[in-house]
Amino acid sequence: MVIGASRGIGLELVRQYAGAGWSVHATTRALERPGKLGDFSGDVVLYSLDVCSDAQIAALADTLAETPIDVLIHSAGVIGSRGAGDAEAREQTLRINTKAPILTAAALLENVAASDQKKIALMSSVQGSGRPREGSRYLYGDSKGLLNAKFRKLEPEWRVRGIISVALHPGYVRTDMTGFMATLSPKKSVKGIRRVLTDLRPEDSGRFVDYKGNTVAW
Ligand SMILES: NC(=O)c1ccc[n+]([C@@H]2O[C@H](COP(=O)([O-])OP(=O)(O)OC[C@H]3O[C@@H](n4cnc5c(N)ncnc54)[C@H](OP(=O)(O)O)[C@@H]3O)[C@@H](O)[C@H]2O)c1
Repeated sequence: MVIGASRGIGLELVRQYAGAGWSVHATTRALERPGKLGDFSGDVVLYSLDVCSDAQIAALADTLAETPIDVLIHSAGVIGSRGAGDAEAREQTLRINTKAPILTAAALLENVAASDQKKIALMSSVQGSGRPREGSRYLYGDSKGLLNAKFRKLEPEWRVRGIISVALHPGYVRTDMTGFMATLSPKKSVKGIRRVLTDLRPEDSGRFVDYKGNTVAW
């Protein structure tokens, strides 16, 4: 299950998992115009989801009620404004980068718990390391640092359900978010992410790892 699959890393996750023969569930905000997401052959089912909407998250969970989810990946995210931003912009960034991954994972927890692999990956960033910092003007890093903090608090509750969950740094990847200026291709990042997720063992739960499986400092 890939949350936020219209572009970038999410789109590549769908491409590679579907190409490898997985049954893939993927969400987009633009179900009526899925673009490249609508071009995949294979077992790909699309759902509409704006992660800012609690009602849409609940509706997705209802739709998927009896469907086990082996691997849940929350990829949706925004870079937000470079400065502190106005209150509304700040709230929007925190909603998407910090609250949505936690709310979505919570809404789909039973689906993951009912699966064979029971894995959750929340897309964080090295920019969340050591954050939030007091007086910081870098909202993106703060939003990921706050996500990490929430994840670390909740992960033990997920672990007792047999779920293996990690915070994930995908590398510095050539997508819209980086203005396509980054060194790493989505293909290589996702190849690494898939290997890391395949290799996850129960003792890895609660780690912050990058696409190579290296530990990232909180
Ligand atoms: N690229 C990097 O170097 C890098 C590094 C570290 C971490 N990350 C993290 O990796 C994840 C994916 O990044 P990316 O590079 O693939 O970014 P991207 O190319 O900008 O794609 C962002 C994705 O998030 C979706 N999204 C944004 N707001 C949403 C909302 N309200 N509801 C549902 N979906 C929403 C977008 O959907 P729409 O098409 O509808 O806007 C799009 O599919 C993000 O969490 C990002 O913070 C990326």
